[in-house]
Amino acid sequence: MATAADGRGNWGSRAGFVLAASGSAVGLGNIWKFPYMAGENGGAAFLIVYLAIVFTIGISVMLCEFVIGRASERSPVGAFAKLRGGAWPIVGFLGVAAGFIILSFYSVVAGWAVAYVFKSALGLLQTSDPAALGRLFGDFSSHPWEPILYHAAFMAMTVAVVIAGIEHGIERACKILLPLLFLILVALAVRSLTLPGAMEGLKFYLYPDFSKVSAQMVNGALSQAFFSLSLGMGAMITYGSYLARHENLTRATLMVTLFDTAVAFIAGLVILPAVFAFSFDPSAGPGLVFITLPAVFAKMPAGVVFAVLFFVLLTIAALTSAVSLLEVVVSYFVDQRGMRRKRSAVVAGGLTFLLGIPSSLSLGLWKDHTIAGKDFLSLMDYVGSNLLLPLGGIAVTLFVGWVILPRALEEATSRGAHPFSLARGWVFICRWVAPVAIGWILIGGL
Ligand code: PHE
Repeated sequence: MATAADGRGNWGSRAGFVLAASGSAVGLGNIWKFPYMAGENGGAAFLIVYLAIVFTIGISVMLCEFVIGRASERSPVGAFAKLRGGAWPIVGFLGVAAGFIILSFYSVVAGWAVAYVFKSALGLLQTSDPAALGRLFGDFSSHPWEPILYHAAFMAMTVAVVIAGIEHGIERACKILLPLLFLILVALAVRSLTLPGAMEGLKFYLYPDFSKVSAQMVNGALSQAFFSLSLGMGAMITYGSYLARHENLTRATLMVTLFDTAVAFIAGLVILPAVFAFSFDPSAGPGLVFITLPAVFAKMPAGVVFAVLFFVLLTIAALTSAVSLLEVVVSYFVDQRGMRRKRSAVVAGGLTFLLGIPSSLSLGLWKDHTIAGKDFLSLMDYVGSNLLLPLGGIAVTLFVGWVILPRALEEATSRGAHPFSLARGWVFICRWVAPVAIGWILIGGL
């Protein structure tokens, strides 16, 4: 068993594990990406496809990852090596690569959130004029070095938390801040839904137009499910590896999935009604949240306070996710290469920072440099979220369903301690539904 004595650390409590895994799941994916993806892809139809994927494939993949992690007590590369070996550890390497790629642009966007803490505190965002807010975001994100400074600051924070180690760094941060973030979002949703004209947005978000369903959109919903639930790259394998033997894995899986989905859903309830109330463009893309939210704050009493608090919480939510991305890379170097935690965190963080620079520049100086029709940030997102994560998902479900099934079932029930009534359904999804559906959606999206 992984104990503090073997140097890998362990969770302080079960609630600690659920919180930390939720900390990984809840982040920019929920608050920044989900609303603009829903906005770009027709609202309610996207929401429904997304929910369907989360509660069939997503939740099953998450359980697979927790099972692999706890059964092996290793980080991803070591986990596959220990449980089966052969070519399987390659899956772990893909995860390390995905972590590196995703974190590089993730940190850039998180840097925007950090910047908006200061901008709102200084009162620079106090207007609900869409054009002014759009200009503000455009000027900032296209600036040659300002966003890079914030990206650097955010990476430095991530490295610091990873160095502090698993229990003290992550668990403690999640305990208070996640519930607080949730409360603030609910308050914002109330404000947003009571704006004049908000009902148009609510209709867009909840009243499906199924003519909007396309292969592209289903592919987007799948990638978003993997991204938001932190699946397909081993983050949840790593977290599961720190979990004690007797804890109830299926319940933890359900709780993390529900919480993550609730946060994304409510973020949509905040953004989309406001988008329509202020006549913003729902398909504005990555800037959407940064343009829409300040307008909502401007319409609130004590809006500046709300704004600062919100962007602080968003930064922290992003931090607890970024930590899990970096942790996959770092734990590989620590567990497999015998490197020191501190050294590997600094080196991996530094390289990720460098890879993030072109993403940051892609909104400004390098706007016109596209690869395969995508700017650099979108390209990183695409390679990470649309390709690597779903591929990882196929691999972990095949691994659990066909390679280590008896062991996996033992683990999923904590050796019989926690009966799992849906085990048959889970096995069926792992063996057939998930690999086939993910593969099919992947190909359809290409
Ligand atoms: N789930 C995180 C979010 O929604 C991002 C993430 C993806 C974290 C993959 C870890 C692994 O922001």
